[in-house]
Amino acid sequence: MAATMMPGGPVADAVFADLLPRSEKLIADGNTPGLGTILVGDDGASARYVGMKMSKAQELGWTSPHLHLPQDATQADVVAAVRAFNDDPAVDGFLVQHPTPPEIDFDAAIMEMAPDKDVDGMHPVNMGRLALMMPGPVPATPAGIEALLAFYDVTVSGREVCILGRGTTLGRPLALLLSQKRPTANAAVTVVHTGVPDWPRYTQRAAVVVAAAGVPGILQPEHISPGAVVVGGGVRYEGRRLLPDVDERCEEVAGWITPRVGGVGPTTIAMLFRNAVEAAERKHAAR
Ligand SMILES: NC(=O)c1ccc[n+]([C@@H]2O[C@H](COP(=O)([O-])OP(=O)(O)OC[C@H]3O[C@@H](n4cnc5c(N)ncnc54)[C@H](OP(=O)(O)O)[C@@H]3O)[C@@H](O)[C@H]2O)c1
Repeated sequence: MAATMMPGGPVADAVFADLLPRSEKLIADGNTPGLGTILVGDDGASARYVGMKMSKAQELGWTSPHLHLPQDATQADVVAAVRAFNDDPAVDGFLVQHPTPPEIDFDAAIMEMAPDKDVDGMHPVNMGRLALMMPGPVPATPAGIEALLAFYDVTVSGREVCILGRGTTLGRPLALLLSQKRPTANAAVTVVHTGVPDWPRYTQRAAVVVAAAGVPGILQPEHISPGAVVVGGGVRYEGRRLLPDVDERCEEVAGWITPRVGGVGPTTIAMLFRNAVEAAERKHAAR
C-alpha cells in the first residue's frame, strides 16, 4: 500500500497561523518586524528563495531590507553587509542566502552575525544554545522537521529516529533537537554517515528515518522497514532539477513519507519566520 504523504505546506500554514497574531501585535505596538536578506551573486535558485522570503515578509506587513552583492563581491564586502544589518535597529533578524560564490567563506560570514539576529539559527552561539537547551534561534530545517512530525502526530518520544547524515545544517542539529527532553522530541536518536558502512542496519530498524545526506536516491526501499516514517531532508540540485535523497519507490514501503517536492522546504521557511518573530519579541520585551 502506498504511504500517506506528509506535505510541508499545511505545517507551514499552522505555524504562520500562530505567528500572525504575534506579528500583528508587534506591528500594533509600533515594533514592525524587519527581516533582512543578503544575496551574493547571480545564482537563480538563491535569488528565487530570497524573493519568496521577502514577499512573505511583505505579506505579513514587515519591512524586508535587502542587500544584493555582485558575483565578484569580496569577503570584506559580505562582512560589511552583515555588520550593517547587525547595527540596524530596524532589522530584527536576517540571513545570508546559501550558497554564496566559492570565493566567499560562508561560515566566516555567519560568524560575523549578531547571534540574536540569526534567523537560520546556524551561528555557533545558536548551535551552542541548542546543545545547552537555552532560548535562541533554532536551526530552521531541523526545527521544521520536528514541527512536521508533530503536525502529523508521528510520535518520536521513546522511539528510534535514525538520521542519515551528520552535516552541520541538518543531521547534527536535528540529532540534538530530537534528543531533547520535550514531548515532541525525546527520541532515541541514531546518526549514521560514511563512517558506518553498514548504515542500512540502523535505518532498517528505526521507526523514523530522516535522509539528510544530499546524495540523490541514497535511501532505497530495502533500507526501511514496512510502515516506517520517512522524512526526505537531503536534496541536490542539478540546474533547476531537484534530486531528493529518498528514492521514490520508498513510497511503496513506508507508512508515512514526505513528498519529493514541498516536504521539508516550506517548514524551513516557516521556522525562519518563527525565529524572526521570537527575535523581535525578545528585543522588545527586553526594553
Ligand atoms: N530541504 C531543506 O530545506 C534543506 C535545508 C538545509 C539542508 N538541506 C539539505 O540537507 C542535506 C544535508 O545538508 P548538510 O549541510 O547538513 O550536510 P553535509 O554537510 O552535506 O553532510 C552530508 C552528510 O551525509 C553523509 N553522507 C554523504 N554520503 C553518504 C553515504 N554515501 N553514506 C552515508 N552517509 C553519507 C555525510 O557523511 P560524512 O560526515 O561521513 O561525510 C555527511 O554527514 C543537503 O542535501 C542539503 O541540501 C535541505
